[in-house]
Amino acid sequence: MPLLDIRNLSIDINTSQGKLRIVDKASLAINEGSIHAFIGESGSGKSLIAKVILGIHEDNWIVTADRMYLGTTDLTLLSKSERRKIMGNEISMIFQHPKSYLDPTKKIYYQVKEALTNTSIIERLMHTKKYNKKSATRQRIKELFHRVGIQNDVTIMSSYPHELSEGICQKIMIAMAIGNNPRILIADEPTTAMDAETQAQIFRLLYKLNQLHKMTILLMSNNFASIRDISDHITLIYSGQTVESGTYKQITKNPLHPYTQAMIKTIVAFDEGVEHKSLLYTLPGNLPSSSEIPIGCRLGPRCPIAQKKCVEDPEQVNYKGHLIRCHFIKLEQSKYANTPKYK
Ligand SMILES: Nc1ncnc2c1ncn2[C@@H]1O[C@H](COP(=O)(O)OP(=O)(O)O)[C@@H](O)[C@H]1O
Ligand code: SF4
Ligand SMILES: [Mg+2]
Repeated sequence: MPLLDIRNLSIDINTSQGKLRIVDKASLAINEGSIHAFIGESGSGKSLIAKVILGIHEDNWIVTADRMYLGTTDLTLLSKSERRKIMGNEISMIFQHPKSYLDPTKKIYYQVKEALTNTSIIERLMHTKKYNKKSATRQRIKELFHRVGIQNDVTIMSSYPHELSEGICQKIMIAMAIGNNPRILIADEPTTAMDAETQAQIFRLLYKLNQLHKMTILLMSNNFASIRDISDHITLIYSGQTVESGTYKQITKNPLHPYTQAMIKTIVAFDEGVEHKSLLYTLPGNLPSSSEIPIGCRLGPRCPIAQKKCVEDPEQVNYKGHLIRCHFIKLEQSKYANTPKYK
């Protein structure tokens, strides 16, 4: 049974242009102990889904789902405040631009201390090591900092956010997020605007937390290439519709949906070293804006194999855990038989 199981989640938002279905029957199943990559271009609905999982969405969003379970808890049955309470300890989140989430007027020590709402770990330290509360808190923060690769803990604890780099601030956010021993960590584009070396460090850190501490991670990104190799499972989302989902091997070795195939084609060209100034493969057109969403399969206007039927919404099919949402992929006949070919 997945740790987080979301089926056919839709989010309608009332805007000045009327009610818009931004997320349309998205499904996401995250296994305990895995790193699940959730990939889609900017504006495809990843952050909206994260907010709904955490229960921090706005009041004018209409959220419906066939299933939304965290372990054995049905999240759809909880009130917003009950949701927030559970989420604080069971699901944590880190965001892009970590500095904007830290209070510029407070030293790091006080901010991390406030985030440690699950006091049982600190109480245990007080009991076993005979620390007073302040020493136990400092010890716990030190442990968390070491876990995320911050060595100079004393200096960092007494610093203000503006004195630190984005990379260090993200490590602090990760320390805060894992401090209450959550069951799942959602990382929403955690390395946006960071240089390549810092990005690699943050991804290595998330991978280490998963491998050494069995932390379940939902890693959201618009960059397939940067996160595919640390993921066990991958789900792709296009304009609010999840289009394909499967294991790392299923998605990278046997991508079936035209959107995934286009993503992979771009990466392969890049990995193989393209000629100077040659064009990379890309689908024509752009992600539709939320007020101009196509009916049926939203990839339609950009899809190289689209047909008339695509104005109808395709059902999701499941072939041994490999999920595809396209009218023209007949998985039940053969794994490869009807894989669409590009024109
Ligand atoms: N509060 C909101 N009200 C209306 N539309 C929104 C709101 N937040 C985001 N959107 C729209 O929803 C779409 C998905 O946004 P988002 O989830 O932030 O995408 P992603 O995280 O994949 O980049 C975008 O078109 C965005 O403009
Ligand atoms: S349903 Fe149609 S438009 Fe959508 S991916 Fe399949 S072929 Fe393309
Ligand atoms: Mg986002």
